[in-house]
Amino acid sequence: MKVREAAQDRRSIRKYKDIPVEKDKIEIMLDSARLAPSGSNTQPARWMVIQNRHTIHRICKACRDQPFVKEAPLVLVLLGDLSCRLGEAEGERDILSDQYREERERIIRDCAISGQQMVLQAFELGIGTCWVGDFTQLSMRKALNIPSDHYILAIFTAGYPDEKPSPRQRHSLKSVVCFEEFKRK
Ligand SMILES: Cc1cc2nc3c(=O)[nH]c(=O)nc-3n(C[C@H](O)[C@H](O)[C@H](O)COP(=O)(O)O)c2cc1C
Repeated sequence: MKVREAAQDRRSIRKYKDIPVEKDKIEIMLDSARLAPSGSNTQPARWMVIQNRHTIHRICKACRDQPFVKEAPLVLVLLGDLSCRLGEAEGERDILSDQYREERERIIRDCAISGQQMVLQAFELGIGTCWVGDFTQLSMRKALNIPSDHYILAIFTAGYPDEKPSPRQRHSLKSVVCFEEFKRK
């Protein structure tokens, strides 16, 4: 599959067949995510693979009970690890604290690249995914017992698609690009 085809044809999938995603496919998805670039090669992205129904129900609750989350055969959780920029420390640091704002922003930027590499790899393998960002750090920390030095970047539901959504509208190229000088769009 060409990159262009993946960029153009991928859709967010929120309805899945009741078929588990094979372990080797999950591994390829996460391995493509692992290969993502990151600032100074700090590689902050960490992943959790969740297939346990009880855990998925807790995740769903933390995602404001969006019903499709509960039905997903597979959920991937993308975390950003503060220690990849600051090294290990005694005691726990809170990545949400103001003193880590700059590191946090960089970690979020780097993890987002990893997230989308996973999504595009999944698409090539025939696996549908949906980014889910509608949760609070504190609610998801609690649901998954995540330590405070990890930022929860996103949840991804995944599985074999059982829907074919139409493309969502996108801005035209002309309306988002300027050349040589900044021009408000
Ligand atoms: C960071 C991020 C967070 C998102 N959070 C949610 C979400 O909480 N629930 C949901 O149903 N879709 C969520 N989406 C999916 C978007 O609604 C979707 O990508 C957008 O409408 C464009 O549709 P497409 O992905 O099919 O092109 C999220 C997407 C991104 C990138």
